[in-house]
Amino acid sequence: MGKRPRQIELRQLEKSDLDEVMEIEPVAFGNHHWSRQSFENELTNRLGYYYAAIDSETKQLVGYSGYWLIAGDEAHITTLAVHPDYRRKRIGEVLLINNILTCREKGAKWLTLEVRVSNEKAQNLYFKFGFKNLGIRRHYYQDNSEDALMLWTENILRPEYLDILNERIEAVRRVVKVEWMAPEEFESPYIRGEEIPAGERRA
Ligand SMILES: CC(C)(COP(=O)(O)OP(=O)(O)OC[C@H]1O[C@@H](n2cnc3c(N)ncnc32)[C@H](O)[C@@H]1OP(=O)(O)O)[C@@H](O)C(=O)NCCC(=O)NCCS
Repeated sequence: MGKRPRQIELRQLEKSDLDEVMEIEPVAFGNHHWSRQSFENELTNRLGYYYAAIDSETKQLVGYSGYWLIAGDEAHITTLAVHPDYRRKRIGEVLLINNILTCREKGAKWLTLEVRVSNEKAQNLYFKFGFKNLGIRRHYYQDNSEDALMLWTENILRPEYLDILNERIEAVRRVVKVEWMAPEEFESPYIRGEEIPAGERRA
């Protein structure tokens, strides 16, 4: 009998998750990691949206990500991390897809982020999702004065972007079963690339 595929559930990140988050955070980001207080602040930041990936079988929090929704149409990814034991299993992709889907339903058109010039793993992930390098922020990281690449997507609401998104969703589906936050979106205009009328957007 083959092994059952791993099942991942997505939901909003909660204060009660922060013990598990704070176990992953220093491993993922070293000296430059966020404090527990930073996460607590982010969970009440009205611009912030944070999500957790949970192993449905063990209920362990295996990753998290989030963004600020700025000026309505830009979403700035502020964090993305996967537990070291769960890496290279497409959980990073699941979290990024979830960011993109939830941004799309909020009407955001562009995703932006900063990433260390040395962080090729994360850059590879973002490039797979159509992020492009807009430029460099010199000495952006205070711990070692490292430069950041500024990455951004083209308009994620346009039908052209769906080819990338659907391809990544298919790749993820081959290795992990995901309970998406809003499964109906897979049958809705959001995933088919029609612009969402303002009145139908969720907050
Ligand atoms: C970056 C990170 C989130 C990736 O998570 P993950 O679940 O391991 O990634 P996935 O399994 O979804 O991999 C998706 C793609 O990312 C890239 N990638 C991930 N790990 C990589 C590695 N060790 N080496 C090279 N590329 C890698 C690849 O392009 C990979 O696709 P592929 O397997 O088809 O080559 C994870 O390594 C992490 O938590 N790193 C520390 C925190 C961090 O750097 N966050 C990003 C801040 S901007």
